[in-house]
Amino acid sequence: MARSRPAILLALAVAATALLALAPAPAAASKYNITKILAPYKEFSKFNAMLSETRLANDINRRQTITVLAVDNAGMAALDHYSKQTRRHILSLHVLVDYYGEKKLKKGGNTASSTLFMATGVASETAGYVNITRKGSKISFKTEDADDTAKPAQLVKSIKEYPYDISVLQVSSIISSAEAEAPVPPPAPVDLVELLSKKYCKSFADLLSANTEAFHAVNETKDNALTLFCPIDAAVAAFAPKYKNLTAKAKTAILLYHAIPDYYSLQLLQSNNGVTTTLATTSENKKDYSYDVENKGKTVTLQTKVITSSITNTVADSEPLGVYAVSKFLQPKELFKVVEAPAPAPEPSKKKAKAADGGEDDSSDDSGAGDETADKGDAAPAVIAQWVTAAATLLAAAFALMG
Ligand SMILES: *[C@@H]1O[C@H](CO)[C@@H](O)[C@H](O)[C@H]1NC(C)=O
Ligand SMILES: *[C@@H]1O[C@H](CO)[C@@H](O)[C@H](O)[C@H]1NC(C)=O
Ligand SMILES: *[C@@H]1O[C@H](CO)[C@@H](O)[C@H](O)[C@H]1NC(C)=O
Ligand SMILES: *[C@@H]1O[C@H](CO)[C@@H](O)[C@H](O)[C@H]1NC(C)=O
Repeated sequence: MARSRPAILLALAVAATALLALAPAPAAASKYNITKILAPYKEFSKFNAMLSETRLANDINRRQTITVLAVDNAGMAALDHYSKQTRRHILSLHVLVDYYGEKKLKKGGNTASSTLFMATGVASETAGYVNITRKGSKISFKTEDADDTAKPAQLVKSIKEYPYDISVLQVSSIISSAEAEAPVPPPAPVDLVELLSKKYCKSFADLLSANTEAFHAVNETKDNALTLFCPIDAAVAAFAPKYKNLTAKAKTAILLYHAIPDYYSLQLLQSNNGVTTTLATTSENKKDYSYDVENKGKTVTLQTKVITSSITNTVADSEPLGVYAVSKFLQPKELFKVVEAPAPAPEPSKKKAKAADGGEDDSSDDSGAGDETADKGDAAPAVIAQWVTAAATLLAAAFALMG
């Protein structure tokens, strides 16, 4: 009945790396921008474009200690016939949640690395892993569930390495995996007004549907990736006199201010601090329209410098759409008077705030080239530390078993 020792060891090691793979991605750690790193290499333009299209670029930028396995334009043709969601799954296998420089690989033995595919929640126990094997100077990457006829992807060369943050390597072809290649049903159509009306946000749904321009922008974004903060009915009622006073343009802007063109799960919001831009940022040229998303324990607050609103309930949280009810109408500093904080808690510096951005900050000049000045967030290391401890405990248990 007892499982063999190696089997237990493997199970524990798998569990430990699984913990690390699923660990909340620290947005505050964003120091490098994969889109910028790959931009000069035209032979990877297709791979780079697809990282953005599938939003994996954001996921990569939010992480620390990561390896990206890039495939050149010719090799990317293998993905042409897949849907966008399936491409996201396949490409997420090309993002290893650990740092592998070329040297380390060429010296190292065989290993299995967890990938971002595990974080998608669709991978089964072992499907999120890529085996890295070395034979002489040849390094190959293969999944457990690769098609038998598939040739393993081989390491071609190192593209760019920033030890031990991000390593970008070229592999010869797309890594095959039956699970990642499986068709993904398109997300069920969501009626935004109905969704909001049913749960906490009827009044906000009314405001939104009455504003054609704002509604159109939000409705269009929701099928790609959207996080919407909807003020609860009481908050809309309290804000109504001020809302009525706004110009038509400002009404549109303030509604768009409640929408972020990216998907944040509640778990991600609860484990990250940082500045986020909004749909109003994109629509209002040269205006900031951003706010700080901060968490204390499980409470997530949105701080606009005018008011602080907090998430009270989840209306919907299913990739690519997150909708959260918030306690107060968000008032941007672009339209309302900034309220100075009474006792200034240690404010994150501007630089920190920028570094924390998940990937919408187009004002950032960060070339991705070793920006040593970018700080790491305060919260993220603590979170990572917890997960590392959990993993270490498991590994310690493994060693104890080895006895
Ligand atoms: C992948 O690695 C694991 C653990 O090292 C090993 O048990 C498994 O046989 C490997 N699979 C392949 C397809 O190489
Ligand atoms: C909102 O988007 C859906 C597609 O998700 C579409 O069917 C619907 O017509 C849109 N509504 C409006 C009012 O544009
Ligand atoms: C609306 O605007 C008027 C005129 O500018 C101002 O007197 C009034 O205080 C404003 N009301 C609110 C609720 O902001
Ligand atoms: C990353 O770089 C791309 C291209 O330069 C840019 O569009 C994007 O906004 C940047 N993302 C971040 C988080 O700075």
